[in-house]
Amino acid sequence: MKVLVTGGAGYVGSHAVRALVDAGHEVLVLDNLCAGHARAVDRRARLIVGDVGDSALTGSLMARERFDAVMHFAAYIEVGESVKDPLKFYDNNVGNTVRLLMQMQRHDIRRMVFSSTCALYGIPERTPISEDVPRRPESPYARVKLAVEWALADSCAAWGLGFAALRYFNAAGASAAADIGEDHDPETHLIPNVLKVALGQKDAVMLFGTDYDTPDGTCIRDYIHVEDLADAHVRALAALKPGEQRHYNTGTGHGASVREVIDAARAVTGHPIPVRECPRRAGDVPRLFADAGLIRAELGWTPRFTNLRDIVASAWKWHSTHPLGFNDRAAKSAS
Ligand SMILES: NC(=O)c1ccc[n+]([C@@H]2O[C@H](COP(=O)([O-])OP(=O)(O)OC[C@H]3O[C@@H](n4cnc5c(N)ncnc54)[C@H](O)[C@@H]3O)[C@@H](O)[C@H]2O)c1
Repeated sequence: MKVLVTGGAGYVGSHAVRALVDAGHEVLVLDNLCAGHARAVDRRARLIVGDVGDSALTGSLMARERFDAVMHFAAYIEVGESVKDPLKFYDNNVGNTVRLLMQMQRHDIRRMVFSSTCALYGIPERTPISEDVPRRPESPYARVKLAVEWALADSCAAWGLGFAALRYFNAAGASAAADIGEDHDPETHLIPNVLKVALGQKDAVMLFGTDYDTPDGTCIRDYIHVEDLADAHVRALAALKPGEQRHYNTGTGHGASVREVIDAARAVTGHPIPVRECPRRAGDVPRLFADAGLIRAELGWTPRFTNLRDIVASAWKWHSTHPLGFNDRAAKSAS
């Protein structure tokens, strides 16, 4: 298929781009590089630097390229920022998505795979979280993702858009070749921040909340390897038909606590990784892990990475060879 990938220069998108071209798809990436990296885009794909909300651009690309499908990763991603500046998130993550959908409708492109989030479930009614757990988003970031899911469902009913909303748990790890990986600024995700301590870029890991109702008192999350997420996208695309909607929780089904992540990082890096215990952060949920039975049953998707230490080791291979991410000299000379 010919696929337009928005946000394909970002962390998850760049791994999906590689998986798509490996699977024989033709890929055009549209990314404004507000957070992405041109060097993260696989050379077999084309990169257009531009904005998803630029309807003249997306319209002319769609008219010229006749895409079969769109994979939509482009979004602002920082939950804390969404609390301080919610309209920025409504504008980019909802407004620009609506503009993209309008162009898709106009050019009769009726397949979309969308990056949704487990944050839709808020404090979940039960764990593991299946897709029918009520959605009670707690942050603007999560409410905005839910708003997009509604826009997709309404488009499905009205003009036959087919879509798969993949509700990711915590993306982690890097490509097997360790040539692309996570490089956010600011970095808010736990595993890269723990590894920055091992690299000497930070003194200690901030551990927010040690008195949760979990076995070791720290929050439990479901870390899903980014290559497994990429594989889920390729499978969702292959299965998707115009006029149908699918929602999948994409996680391993296993939770790991913050202390377990830090211990895994100590074992992988051989660094003591000092910890600074801090009070709970507002909005952090004690336990989030997936029931991924539906995507397994319908798409035959099984995560290859189920061991936390392997996921941390994969991230370490990337961070230790690219301590400054895509700005690293090693990355520059390799490209
Ligand atoms: N990383 C995770 O753990 C996680 C979890 C749940 C959901 N998600 C969702 O997955 C998607 C990808 O996340 P990520 O971690 O790869 O983020 P990222 O910031 O690395 O990638 C997002 C990309 O979108 C681009 N972008 C943003 N707005 C744009 C616009 N208006 N036009 C063109 N390009 C634009 C950025 O430059 C960046 O390359 C996001 O939608 C995010 O909300 C991520």
